[in-house]
Amino acid sequence: MVLQAKMIVYSSKSSKGTLFPVRSMLVFFIALFGFYVCYFSFTQITLENEEEEMNGAEERTNVLCKRPSEIPYEQMQYVHFPRPMSYDRGECECTPVRFFVIVSMQRSGSGWFETLLNSHPNVSSNGEIFSVRERREDIASILWTLDKLYDLDWHTSAAKNECTAAFGLKWMLNQGLMDYPDEIVDYLIKKGVMVIFLFRRNTLRRLVSVLANDHDKKTKQLNGTHKAHVHSQEEAEILARFKPEVDVSSLIPSMRSAEQSMDACLRRFRATRRMILYYEDVIRDDNALSRVQEFLGLPVRRLSSRHVKIHTSPLPDLVDNWEDVRRTLKPTEFARLLDG
Ligand SMILES: *[C@@H]1O[C@H](CO)[C@@H](O)[C@H](O)[C@H]1NC(C)=O
Ligand SMILES: *[C@@H]1O[C@H](CO)[C@@H](O)[C@H](O)[C@H]1NC(C)=O
Repeated sequence: MVLQAKMIVYSSKSSKGTLFPVRSMLVFFIALFGFYVCYFSFTQITLENEEEEMNGAEERTNVLCKRPSEIPYEQMQYVHFPRPMSYDRGECECTPVRFFVIVSMQRSGSGWFETLLNSHPNVSSNGEIFSVRERREDIASILWTLDKLYDLDWHTSAAKNECTAAFGLKWMLNQGLMDYPDEIVDYLIKKGVMVIFLFRRNTLRRLVSVLANDHDKKTKQLNGTHKAHVHSQEEAEILARFKPEVDVSSLIPSMRSAEQSMDACLRRFRATRRMILYYEDVIRDDNALSRVQEFLGLPVRRLSSRHVKIHTSPLPDLVDNWEDVRRTLKPTEFARLLDG
């Protein structure tokens, strides 16, 4: 643009007739530049105002917490200084807190994953809050519950003596999450909540685990109590002895339906600040847990869990009618899961 303007100025020297349009053009450019400068500073002022407004509610008391300067601008809305009504955060008052939600499906390793997270001194993950039906009766009760949780007015065993730096819950797809996806996505964005999706790639193994777990709900194999997760090798072995028989007529529809639920969820929630994890990767890749901690703005620690995996054998040893299952899935897109 400048180059063009210059060229016109040079060429105007040779002919006086073009001088008038050149002058008005220069005036025009100068005006345009002035306007641009004004506009630019104006948008900056509005941005600053918005930022103040966003944190106004949290910083209403006389203590003003400063956001650590190392937090990049685009992450600012995910950093909070909650002020619970029911207690005083005391010396932790100005420790920045990230809000998160673990979105998962039953038998996808999320119980194990949550105990890993909770082994971090600064993390408090409060379990499947929406397993209680009244809390997800309608969107109003869901939002009320979330507000109470993220105000840190929620008391569970996940409470820590340390300063909380990441606070959240675990939420299954079938616990109201996919009944009001738009409202919930809106809420998560406005509230500055980050989402960790934890899914299981091998939907066949997931299904076997669901069937075995359903069986234990009925039979209570461990001294008359049902356990969805176990803490010893002995308990794991007892539970793994049961081999479910898979109903092959509903096998493909139910695996498809699981995959569709995951896809639909990822699509509906793509506007959130999110991280997608697969159970299989968390098992195999040591860095997966470091990435989670970095995502949550935490100092990276070695995380541990007392959970013991129940089904460790190859799939053929876990299913009673394996030959039927194999024959049913062989010609389908699920054949790849057979030796997973
Ligand atoms: C974790 O908790 C400790 C002890 O309360 C605190 O000093 C530290 O600042 C916390 N870390 C983060 C990242 O908030
Ligand atoms: C069942 O109870 C007995 C006696 O209390 C105990 O020794 C055993 O370890 C228990 N078994 C399991 C699987 O919990």
